[in-house]
Amino acid sequence: MYNEKVIQEFTCPKNVGEIKDADGVGKVGNAKCGDIMKMFLKIDDGKITDAKFQTFGCAAAIATSSVATELIKGKTVEDALKLTNKDVVNKLDELPAQKIHCSVLAEEAIKAAIDDYESKAKGRDIGKLGNK
Ligand code: FES
Repeated sequence: MYNEKVIQEFTCPKNVGEIKDADGVGKVGNAKCGDIMKMFLKIDDGKITDAKFQTFGCAAAIATSSVATELIKGKTVEDALKLTNKDVVNKLDELPAQKIHCSVLAEEAIKAAIDDYESKAKGRDIGKLGNK
């Protein structure tokens, strides 16, 4: 069912874990399969310096989380927002049709973590204004 690359990413996933002092955290789930993906981002000066994930899900969900974190590390937030599930699937060469939604989850988890980062950043800016 899965190709070699997917199996490799699933059996030896990169960036598994949690970033305790993450600047952005995104948690998404798929109601149909019940899989959950949590993404942690460390962002410095608009650049993603670290990304980790915790995924409770299928092999494809873990493989796509691994690849997605690798794809966004070192990118600017702006560029990371452009990442699509197709980029993730391409990196894995392919995914079975019934597993494409797993790659969508990876894209959504990254966007949710960036959303969290941006709303926290806005809060900080408002806080700074309040101190003036
Ligand atoms: Fe739902 Fe993989 S089966 S994320």
